[in-house]
Amino acid sequence: MAQGRERVLSGMRPTGKVHLGNHLGALDNWVRMQDAYDCFYFVANWHALTDDYDTSEVPRDTIEMLADWLGAGLDPERSTLFIQSLVPEHAELHLLFSMVTPVGWLERVPTYKERIEQQGIASPSYGLLGYPLLQAADILMYKPTWVPVGVDQVPHVELTREVARRFNNAFRPVFPEPDAKLTEIPKVPGTDGRKMSKSYDNAIYLSDTPEAIVRKVRPMVTDPARKRRSDPGNPDICPVFDLHKIFTPPVEREQCATGCRTAGIGCLDCKEVLLGHLVPRLDGIRERRQKFAEKPEVIIDILREGSKRAQAVARRTMDEVRAAVNLTP
Ligand code: TRP
Ligand code: SF4
Repeated sequence: MAQGRERVLSGMRPTGKVHLGNHLGALDNWVRMQDAYDCFYFVANWHALTDDYDTSEVPRDTIEMLADWLGAGLDPERSTLFIQSLVPEHAELHLLFSMVTPVGWLERVPTYKERIEQQGIASPSYGLLGYPLLQAADILMYKPTWVPVGVDQVPHVELTREVARRFNNAFRPVFPEPDAKLTEIPKVPGTDGRKMSKSYDNAIYLSDTPEAIVRKVRPMVTDPARKRRSDPGNPDICPVFDLHKIFTPPVEREQCATGCRTAGIGCLDCKEVLLGHLVPRLDGIRERRQKFAEKPEVIIDILREGSKRAQAVARRTMDEVRAAVNLTP
């Protein structure tokens, strides 16, 4: 399968249903990369332990997320879909990396500092500090050329490159240095105009029915200057228009923009145009994801099978790594 192709690796924490922001920011790119690359995509369930010790929802969230991955077009015949904890080699590589990684490197990672500040974590765990190092192990295990991620993950890929260099110098050259493949992420606002996020409760999910999408889009925040139908508006500052930019073809979109600026159309008219394009775009994904969600055993099989395939690669890497660190007599 995909012999001779450059390899790609990426992962997501099992946060459950995928929303439009996740889809356009990552998943859609993962799907497209399958055509040209040998892709490995995994569920970062150990990383989920840095969010919450209550892991009771993780199994269900994993199934929901995978249903969306498959519905969006990830193809288990072409890509290796797996679960981090089913390939425990990642933990061994993380441990060996921890021996060559200065604590200062990890303390300087911006996501670490942000999480401690934003979540007011008084006593951060060793695992939280090591989060990006575990990610480095996830990545380097598969020696990928590319790691498709959003900009927020770039410091983690940078650290991964430094760790690879450090390991190669300390022992012998085992790891190539991967590059982040940045997704052109369109601005995807949630229904309240802020960034779309599960925690803001403003998200449109791939699993949402057409009725649910309509119910979310109709009351969506618009340009606040348009209090009355007769007030002209400015599409450049309207979150609804950010969605038009993604889903509505240019001619119709420009008609909406002009109608907005001249008060020729109302916001509800404008939203109906958007819905006319947004809803059909999600129909196929939703129907496919629903079929998978009804058969969790199929999803579990796909993940078990994929994890075996991933583990075969991981074992080969670890054979090289163990030989390089040279501990066994
Ligand atoms: N930190 C990533 C995120 O929150 C998830 C992740 C874990 C990951 N390991 C990875 C992404 C390896 C890419 C490669 O989105
Ligand atoms: Fe936004 Fe459309 Fe209303 Fe203008 S008409 S403010 S672009 S929703």
